[in-house]
Amino acid sequence: MNRTWLVVALLTIGIGAIGLVVTAALAQSRPVATTASTVERGRWIYFTATNPDTGAPIPYSGGMMMPMACADCHGADGRGLRTPMFVSPDIRYRNLTDPAGMREPDGTRGHAYRSDEEIRRAITEGIGPDGEPLAWPMPRWHLTDRELEDLLAFLKALP
Ligand code: HEC
Repeated sequence: MNRTWLVVALLTIGIGAIGLVVTAALAQSRPVATTASTVERGRWIYFTATNPDTGAPIPYSGGMMMPMACADCHGADGRGLRTPMFVSPDIRYRNLTDPAGMREPDGTRGHAYRSDEEIRRAITEGIGPDGEPLAWPMPRWHLTDRELEDLLAFLKALP
């Protein structure tokens, strides 16, 4: 009798353990945990240009002829890069929305973004706050509302 209970107990624990392992494996098949904050999800997008839930590449048009993420062009810290192919601006939220005009790579002041909507237009349509198209190296990103929300949260969190 005691033996039967022992077997049942061990089986229960065993099945429970397998369940945990399967759950953990499923969780890891997602790039970012579902519980991740918008900032963490945005960081994922910024560095990989893939969806944080599925890992699928985020479609874009224009830009360079090879797939690149925001970080490849704007730097890991968002402060812009100077390369032989292009010079990219500081896109930290604090810089984009500086009322005095965003600080351009050459140190001069440029246009100022006045809303998240204007930043959305720049990222998804390649149009600056003044209605002028952005320079060609900047791709037009086909982001979902959720991806954009995550990305903006990350740009806002950049110190
Ligand atoms: C292939 C390189 C490249 C990639 C990848 C890239 N950018 Fe850019 N981006 C640029 C360049 C170059 C500019 C400057 C365009 C200009 O001056 O007109 C720019 C401009 C911008 C601007 C407008 C700044 C301004 O001067 O008004 C924003 C916002 C921006 N990028 C956000 C992003 C985000 C977010 C991502 C990723 C989803 C991204 N970029 C990916 C190269 C890139």
